[in-house]
Amino acid sequence: MITGKALDELRNAIGAIHVRTDEAVEALDPGWHPDNLKAGVLVAPESTAEVAAVLTICRAYGIGVVTHGGRTGLVGGAISAPGEIVLSTVRLNRIVDLDPVARVAVVEAGVTLEALQQAAQIHRLDPGIDIPSRGSATIGGMVSTNAGGIMAFRNGVMRHRVLGLEAVLADGSIYSDLTRVVKTTAGYDLKHLFIGAEGTLGIVTRVALNLDVTPPATVTAFFGLPSIAAVLDVIRMALDSPAGSLRAAEALWQSFFHLTATTQGFADASVDAGMPLYLLLTLGGADEGAMRDAFEQMFERAIERYPNMSGIVATSARQERDLWRLREDTDAIYRAFPAAPSYDVSVPLSGIDAYVTRALDGLRCLDPAFCPFVFGHLADGNLHIVLNHAGPLRPDRTRAVEAILYQDLAGFGGSFSAEHGIGAKRVEALRTYGDPTKRALMRLVRDAIDPSAILSRNKVIVRP
Ligand code: LAC
Ligand code: ZN
Repeated sequence: MITGKALDELRNAIGAIHVRTDEAVEALDPGWHPDNLKAGVLVAPESTAEVAAVLTICRAYGIGVVTHGGRTGLVGGAISAPGEIVLSTVRLNRIVDLDPVARVAVVEAGVTLEALQQAAQIHRLDPGIDIPSRGSATIGGMVSTNAGGIMAFRNGVMRHRVLGLEAVLADGSIYSDLTRVVKTTAGYDLKHLFIGAEGTLGIVTRVALNLDVTPPATVTAFFGLPSIAAVLDVIRMALDSPAGSLRAAEALWQSFFHLTATTQGFADASVDAGMPLYLLLTLGGADEGAMRDAFEQMFERAIERYPNMSGIVATSARQERDLWRLREDTDAIYRAFPAAPSYDVSVPLSGIDAYVTRALDGLRCLDPAFCPFVFGHLADGNLHIVLNHAGPLRPDRTRAVEAILYQDLAGFGGSFSAEHGIGAKRVEALRTYGDPTKRALMRLVRDAIDPSAILSRNKVIVRP
């Protein structure tokens, strides 16, 4: 338990009202996982210096620290336990600088993606990364989890958007590397240690991010298609389109489409509800009419090859938003199946057809009642698979499902954790499916940087 003396020191360091305990913590929204606030103590520093002060105190008392951004991570990275403290970045919420000439933003860790998108939009700029949880996800959390999302197929993942960052280490020292340029070869590029470390190597406090120019217009289309091969074919047509550049290619398998279409009350006679797959495409460019024409032409070319396909091109911003809701309302699954087991894999495009067929067959063999919801960022091979099952599976069932979904993935160049991280939930999968030398190296790095293991204990790192 945290002693009164330690709490007093924390109160002195950041102000008593920013150290919440008991009921003041219970009153907060725990976010995605019910155990996120189990620590019962939450501190909200407002500067890098205060984060450093908190960590210095926690290290002196051996108190574990779990960093919270938006609390909407899906792998239990934000879970905390009694005896630990939660460090929330909620007050680190300033956009420090937004330079439209250099196209760079420097933001504090607690700024939400949406807040940055809105601030950048004033200059017709964009962070070049987008995820459905944009309203809650913070830049610090996205850096710490190396978030991917919708535009990763063209812009890379968070790692490729970060120019520089600042992070506080477990001993309270500050790693300061707020480089704002693409090119720097001044020694090891250690910022990458903190990107994707899920808070185990330091607490990211500020980030310099690359911004892209926003296209003047976007046009969205929604196609029903007979097969993965057809979906990949149409994505290729969209990538080749001279009228605009492809900004999103999101796939929805039939059961997921049916669920969100029912939830949203979506019914459009031009979209055949009986197709195995649906594809949401957004083009960005200067000429809206030309992009609309390009989609019409794409549709005509595609229907020659896939005569039973169907599709629509959104004709208003409202319709575009409605189509996107079909893809982004993943909460519909969890309303129907609370705490449904979910998986997040990456598969090279050439193997995706075989992978999905084998995975779905395997799951059906394991339990004929399984009819998973499948959707995802098909242009980069990242699929989300969520079981139609309320609550966690029994441990033996979990192992059996993981064997079906993860076996051989690494062998053909995929990943069992594409963009959601390891957190608490995938540690056992990392033990079973990760490379042993990588696991050993991860332990070495962790033990060197945080030898007392105060940062996000029991997360990410696999102990033998
Ligand atoms: C999405 C989250 C689950 O793409 O990664 O909706
Ligand atoms: Zn995703």
